[in-house]
Amino acid sequence: MKSFYLTTPIYYVNDAPHIGHAYTTVAGDVLTRWHRQRGESVWFLTGTDEHGQKVMRTAEQNNAAPQAWVDKLVADAWKPNWTALNIANDDFIRTTEPRHTERVQKFLQSLKDSGHIYAGKYEGPYCVGCEEFKLPGDLIDADGEKLCPIHSKPIELVNENNWFFKLSEFTQPLLDHYKNNPEACQPESARNEVVSFLEGGVSDLSISRSTFDWGIPVPWDTDQVVYVWFDALLNYATAVGLTDAPDSEGGKKFAETWPADVHLVGKDILRFHAVIWPAMLMAAGIDIPKKVFAHGWLLVGGEKMSKSKLTGIAPSDITDHFGVDAFRYYFLRAIPFGSDGSFSWEDMSARYTSELANDFGNLASRLAAMIEKYCEGKIPAVAEDSALSAALVETVAKADSAMVALDFQGGINAVMDFCKRVNGFVTEKQPWILAKDPANQAELEAVLYNTAESLRALAVLLHPVMPATTEILWQSLGAQDVLGDISKQQISSVAKWGQLPQGATVTKTPVLFPRLEVKE
Ligand code: ME8
Ligand code: MG
Repeated sequence: MKSFYLTTPIYYVNDAPHIGHAYTTVAGDVLTRWHRQRGESVWFLTGTDEHGQKVMRTAEQNNAAPQAWVDKLVADAWKPNWTALNIANDDFIRTTEPRHTERVQKFLQSLKDSGHIYAGKYEGPYCVGCEEFKLPGDLIDADGEKLCPIHSKPIELVNENNWFFKLSEFTQPLLDHYKNNPEACQPESARNEVVSFLEGGVSDLSISRSTFDWGIPVPWDTDQVVYVWFDALLNYATAVGLTDAPDSEGGKKFAETWPADVHLVGKDILRFHAVIWPAMLMAAGIDIPKKVFAHGWLLVGGEKMSKSKLTGIAPSDITDHFGVDAFRYYFLRAIPFGSDGSFSWEDMSARYTSELANDFGNLASRLAAMIEKYCEGKIPAVAEDSALSAALVETVAKADSAMVALDFQGGINAVMDFCKRVNGFVTEKQPWILAKDPANQAELEAVLYNTAESLRALAVLLHPVMPATTEILWQSLGAQDVLGDISKQQISSVAKWGQLPQGATVTKTPVLFPRLEVKE
């Protein structure tokens, strides 16, 4: 069976991760967890981009050898960050690993052998922050000095004899591709940008550098190293066995995963993914990815938050205060995926309190308290409020179609609307009033059953977004013993009413979303 294969960018290890990197990787984690709960086989890859001048110079500035520098940052900052954020990636690739460097060399040699690479001379501007050869039209002019528009830093002039890839030959095939497969580049604004870039004409690409040595040697000319983007883009395929013989382990993995279903990237690196990368694959006669999705930027003071500009907020600055699950929830809930957004402490506090603590957390703790008080801590007899169960069917359909379309905000909203509706149901039925007269016991129990069953569904639907909190709720509902692991619950059967059996033991949860401490 072909796996649903999703990748994040591999991040430069010039510094520790900030919430921009976490935004992409959390989105990837939520989407892959959702697809796993759809019963699909899934492969989720992330990793680090370790070669090139940007990383080399930062290592130098820190008086470290590049390999020692990247080893330390990956071990002390990047991997622990993903563990802390509960990221369930299946693999982590580093571009300094032999499994990558060897396959890159093999791939490059094959492009050379098939006539896609030639010797040339590059003369022009380069931004080390982007690791990109710039077009004069890309730059901003500041008092006669040319600046990179992303990094606001002066570009450097490169003048080198390099190896070139015949990128220009793929301009028309790429235009045809995006015309015939509009879903291959999203959102629409990103696709339009790529199409107009291609229509403007594309030059061949210098794919090696000769003035420094922190990179993968060009196999037939070891005075040169492979251009860092050519090296980095290949990670998506080398990690799953590109160039391995079809009957080998790597070859089989490749057949199971390739082509990638989604490359998740920020819009800063759209062109690399939607122009250079598919052209490299076309040249090699390999299927190109099904979709590149370019999301927007988290901004600081109206500009892209960035390691290079030292404007990054560490994820732990936020998770220490709000918790990991609220962090995972907030950015996907608050910013339409594809648009830019700013982080605001006030907005996050407000949503935490109203959506997570009040709407969701309180519902869970009220239900557990009432079941303890009125039903001796056991799930009462199965009952079905047909309006509620119908709303759930609709919710699941809406959430599923939004999530698979990477509309995280729409998907989460659909689920949280259902949560509001359940709160409305409890408010309307007033179980605490029913409890005053023993004649109402059956009705009271029916209200509580319907609420518990709704919470079961909410736990499953929110699990990809907030894995730890929903796990606590799952335990509290006594669902683990009768229904098994929450992560194994299928989206396709969430709306089947009546899954919590009568008699299951409900326990009070620790508060799911504790009241926020006042920040000094
Ligand atoms: O570009 N807002 O690595 P990188 C949202 N190594 N997302 C952000 C962000 C922000 N302010 N800042 C960073 C590279 N990101 C290359 C990629 S892939 C073959 C090689 C996220 O460390 C976003 O996903 O500069 C962006 O595209 C990526 O981090 C860039 O990370
Ligand atoms: Mg960057």
